[in-house]
Amino acid sequence: MKIIIVTLSIILVILNLKFVTATYNYYDVVNLGAKPNSNSDSSKALEAAWNITCDSTGESTIHIPEGEYFVPKSLKFSGKGCQSSKINFVINRTLKAPSDFRVLQNSKTWVLFEHVNGLTLSGGVFDAAGAKLWNCKRSGKEACPRGVESLGFVNSQNIEINGITSLDSQLYHIGIDDCQNVNVKGVTISASGHSPNTDGDDCISIGPGTKILWIQDITCGPGHGISIGSLGKTLHEAKVHNVTVQTSTFINTENGVRIKSWGRPSDGFVSDVVFQHLTMENAQNPIIIDQNYCPNHKDCPGEVSGVRISDVTYDDIHESSSTSIAVKFDCSRKHRCLGIKLKNIKLTHENKQASSFCNNCEGSTFGNVQPKSCFN
Ligand SMILES: *[C@@H]1O[C@H](CO)[C@@H](O)[C@H](O)[C@H]1NC(C)=O
Ligand SMILES: *[C@@H]1O[C@H](CO)[C@@H](O)[C@H](O)[C@H]1NC(C)=O
Ligand SMILES: *[C@@H]1O[C@H](CO)[C@@H](O)[C@H](O)[C@H]1NC(C)=O
Repeated sequence: MKIIIVTLSIILVILNLKFVTATYNYYDVVNLGAKPNSNSDSSKALEAAWNITCDSTGESTIHIPEGEYFVPKSLKFSGKGCQSSKINFVINRTLKAPSDFRVLQNSKTWVLFEHVNGLTLSGGVFDAAGAKLWNCKRSGKEACPRGVESLGFVNSQNIEINGITSLDSQLYHIGIDDCQNVNVKGVTISASGHSPNTDGDDCISIGPGTKILWIQDITCGPGHGISIGSLGKTLHEAKVHNVTVQTSTFINTENGVRIKSWGRPSDGFVSDVVFQHLTMENAQNPIIIDQNYCPNHKDCPGEVSGVRISDVTYDDIHESSSTSIAVKFDCSRKHRCLGIKLKNIKLTHENKQASSFCNNCEGSTFGNVQPKSCFN
């Protein structure tokens, strides 16, 4: 099932590098054969623009002028061997995927940037036309492909993603993997609340190995909220640390802020997380740690999570929970959650007192905390 309407601005390790360059190159994709507002395939022209840009020294701009461009192919923009110091990719305004989901079924990502150092992607709508795939999945009648992620960044550095919109993705909207210094701002992500689970139902999902992540000013809902995890699926896993989520609002979401790990052996680790100044409007689980994730109780020997969770602060989190348990800490039997801090929490259920649930969780409270904590 689901969803996602988000405006987000994630700042992953601040700073945009400004390159001082001698040359400046400008490529208009229409001059290279792209056809706005037609059913003809513009993917070759986009590829050609990237190739020329990659071979140009200095800073370059690829401009996709006003109109809708049909892109019935998965595009891979690789920065390997590029001469350019910086690429600006300006979209005005829509790239459209084919509604026949079988066309892209063998790709993982529709538009992929990899091994790129120095990229600004601005403006533009990525319309993945996912509705037919959702219908296929919902009908349960035929074998449907998994779907493609709309926009991906892999093994890249110094990336700015600015003011784009992702519409109706088949799977994840935007994936950022193995990248450093990524700044995402003014992004809108939108798909029907009735779409089946697209696996992209978390407004933001924070995976293993994420560090120095700053998230602020997100409006999230419906959907699954902001999640660290699922973690601990594998035995060896990179740590998650120094994550801040602040001044954000969750509206009718399944979770507010969640940390989730599999009930499986793992050396995974989460520490130094701050959730601050958050408004929950009828979130089902406004504050939740769930270390017992194991769908269908399959492949989880002992059903105990090896992931260690410590130093997580919840500060100034308020408004309403749509269930009576507003704060839930269900930690690992093997590694108790340590150093959990609750500061100035005020969450109610139907204007009445809500409650807390704790399992294997140690922590402390500061200021006025409602519901009362249950650290043990
Ligand atoms: C762009 O470059 C790639 C890699 O060299 C090549 O495979 C592809 O055919 C080129 N595409 C166009 C349209 O020039
Ligand atoms: C996009 O198109 C609109 C309408 O033609 C124009 O006003 C605007 O300046 C364009 N933006 C860019 C970045 O080219
Ligand atoms: C934690 O992350 C913030 C940015 O979100 C950064 O300013 C700070 O230096 C980081 N702290 C450590 C110890 O890495």
